[in-house]
Amino acid sequence: MSNHSELMKFVKEYPDFPKPGITFRDVFPMFSDPQALQSLVDACVDIVSRGSRPDVILGVESRGFLLAPLIAYKLGIGFAPVRKVGKLPGRTACESYDLEYGQDSIEVQVDSFKPGQNVVVLDDLIATGGTLSATCKLAKKLGANVISCLTIVELKDLGGRAKIDAPVFSLITY
Ligand code: PRP
Ligand code: ADE
Repeated sequence: MSNHSELMKFVKEYPDFPKPGITFRDVFPMFSDPQALQSLVDACVDIVSRGSRPDVILGVESRGFLLAPLIAYKLGIGFAPVRKVGKLPGRTACESYDLEYGQDSIEVQVDSFKPGQNVVVLDDLIATGGTLSATCKLAKKLGANVISCLTIVELKDLGGRAKIDAPVFSLITY
């Protein structure tokens, strides 16, 4: 299916979480349904397979950790984590960003990929685009060629994709 509308019913909405005024879109129901999970992974693999072959998929904490390795496994490539600051050992690089509901910093281990390697960045959701934009900046700072960013959900009204200097693909938009 082209717009993946069949997956939409597996996104559960929670008004006023984690703060008043925010409608939280929870993608975990998509992971608990076996068929939805297969459709999700297949749709992501399909999108990633259309572009240049990535060497590594970077998954963003926390829900990006769950999906990125499934896609990496299917493609026969590696996965590396992008984490909130202070969680990763060894040599790391860091970037700060604004959230829809706060501020944060992300970190990656500098040996997650080699300079010049093709990287796809994956997260569950793009809202303001702060997280993905910071991740792309971080990856590029370390010499990656960021082929694309991929999310399950995009909150279009927040205009996040405009912040990102790479093609952005999302399966479901609100
Ligand atoms: C959520 C979501 C994305 C980010 C998107 O993570 O999983 O990573 O927000 O927002 P943005 O486009 O405005 O940057 P959150 O910061 O809630 O952290 P968590 O995944 O660790 O719960
Ligand atoms: N991250 C930022 N905004 C979000 C939202 N509305 N739902 C889920 N995750 C989010």
